[in-house]
Amino acid sequence: MADSRKLIIAIDGPAGAGKSTIASRLARKLGYVNLESGAMYRALALKAIEWDVSFDDEQDLLKLAHEARIQLEPTLTGNRVLLDGKDVSQRVREPDVTEAASRVSVHPLVREWMVARQQEMGTEGGIVMEGRDIGTKVFPNAQVKIFLDADPVVREQRRLAQKKMSNAAAQVSFAELRERDQRDRTRAASPLQPAPDALILDSTRMSEEDVLQRVEEYVSARLDTAGLDVPRLDAAGPT
Ligand code: DC
Repeated sequence: MADSRKLIIAIDGPAGAGKSTIASRLARKLGYVNLESGAMYRALALKAIEWDVSFDDEQDLLKLAHEARIQLEPTLTGNRVLLDGKDVSQRVREPDVTEAASRVSVHPLVREWMVARQQEMGTEGGIVMEGRDIGTKVFPNAQVKIFLDADPVVREQRRLAQKKMSNAAAQVSFAELRERDQRDRTRAASPLQPAPDALILDSTRMSEEDVLQRVEEYVSARLDTAGLDVPRLDAAGPT
């Protein structure tokens, strides 16, 4: 049976809003596991690329999902992603997979399969799961839901700061980010949107430390309300 003292924390939001960093730092502080649900869509997209399956063919993608062994291994710096036993953590971050992941994730049957796998990962609680539909679909009963947003220009700047890119490449990358955003927000199945009971945080003018502090305050407040016994947030977490 699930340990009721171990929370499920859902962090949703668009690409580049800072979800991964905040989720992994929060998980570390709480001694929880951080799971990047987007990496699962990325792994399936990679498999579709490798097997030459159309990103528009829902049935074939579902079949591929059933055949795929997708594993997320939380580490201190993010998730290690295994596809059929092979470490694809770097490969799934490349632009072709990023684009493909956004396309395979529009299909309701693919999403249903992913959501079921993600729910299995959360049965014990003690997780921070980030994605687009965690608070709305995967864990609608999560005790803590955070929707992290930021202005698209700022999100793109943050992403660019992590990579070296020519101006021309940066412009293409920005156009692609907007296109993916648009697809994620307007798809019929589980579009990206805040759960009605989520804390909405716009990090456009906030530093990473500010966001983390605000999130920690919110989690503490939720814990007090729920009367749950979990590690204190102000205790030094593992480094
Ligand atoms: O978070 P990410 O950038 O790694 O996600 C990759 C793609 O997967 C993104 O285009 C949206 C999709 N996704 C989704 O539809 N639902 C999720 N819970 C997570 C990601």
